[in-house]
Amino acid sequence: MSAAPTTAPVTVAVTGAAGQIGYSLLPRIASGAMLGPDTPVRLRLLEVPAARAAAEGVAMELDDCAFGLLAGVEVGDDAATAFEGADVALLVGSRPRTRGMERKDLIAANGAIFTAQGRALADHADDDVRVVVVGNPANTNALIAATHAAGLPARHFSALTRLDHNRAVAQLARRAGVPVTAVRGVTVWGNHSATQYPDLGAATVAGRPAPEVVGDPSEGTGWVAGTFVPAVQQRGAAIIEARGASSAASAASAVVDHVRDWFLGTPEGTWTSMAVVSDGAYGVPEGLVCSFPVTTRGGEWEVVPGLRLDAAARAGLERSVAELEAEREAVRALGLLG
Ligand code: NAD
Ligand code: LMR
Repeated sequence: MSAAPTTAPVTVAVTGAAGQIGYSLLPRIASGAMLGPDTPVRLRLLEVPAARAAAEGVAMELDDCAFGLLAGVEVGDDAATAFEGADVALLVGSRPRTRGMERKDLIAANGAIFTAQGRALADHADDDVRVVVVGNPANTNALIAATHAAGLPARHFSALTRLDHNRAVAQLARRAGVPVTAVRGVTVWGNHSATQYPDLGAATVAGRPAPEVVGDPSEGTGWVAGTFVPAVQQRGAAIIEARGASSAASAASAVVDHVRDWFLGTPEGTWTSMAVVSDGAYGVPEGLVCSFPVTTRGGEWEVVPGLRLDAAARAGLERSVAELEAEREAVRALGLLG
């Protein structure tokens, strides 16, 4: 029998709690998978009024799981109340794309959610809150939220590209015939969109250079360029095609990984991918929310310095950055950057 937790509960606000991702995500958080087995959590579930009853049902199920770490669940449709004193805010609530759409087609539908929630976080969350934007287009929605969260450091806002990172790791491990734990040093650069660039230039498989292991040592040819890169870039669309709905269990699992590593630390000798506000690293214009290779611990992140990008990676990053700049212009034109 494990001893009762002794530390104070961490308050985690989750928006879109009655949605697909919410349903997969909430039990994982309450079980301790996200913040560790010694950290109790208090959950605040935010929904739109029409889905509040469904969120109450999810809360009932969380009760019924009898999680030892769950210090309480509150449900509401008011952002100010949901974010009050929040230590972690997971901004999932927003519309998903459907077949044939790109994620940036959601800007008009979803962008405004993040102006209001950015302001509500600034006014009500703990000053040290860490924010993860999941709702698409995630990078640009994170930019909107951070812009409206006056007084909160932009470094404390992030967008989820861990799902792309995990997809890249899984594809590489499968190709190499090894467990995912043998893979290190994968990077996803750019936007959480079809322009992202999953980069194996610094990756290793059981200590050997990944391009050599997959029989593809020259850049721009073979399995990496022909199969791996497009498969990762198009994986979200492939899931929608197959399931008729966008990824949910894998997205929830990626959120858990993202937050766990942000607080508890990336493993020694490797890094993860996370979309954060650029400080100009790797030539990415300052202020864009872009996916980088990062090491993390204690709620802080550092971009991994000094990686060499081959011509394909450099071109891929530049293309994705151009898309992020175009999205920023689009939200500015909609008046969403103030
Ligand atoms: P869903 O439609 O199943 O659920 C979304 C929920 O959000 C709904 O219950 C809705 O009522 C709620 N909601 C809408 N506006 C809200 C608001 N202002 N405040 C609180 N709740 C609100 O969708 P889903 O499958 O859970 O996906 C949610 C979002 O996550 C979508 O935008 C999707 O594209 C995105 N997504 C991102 C990634 C990623 O890797 N970044 C992965 C998968 C999905
Ligand atoms: C994903 O990558 O699965 C999500 O962003 C959902 C989508 O629209 O592809």
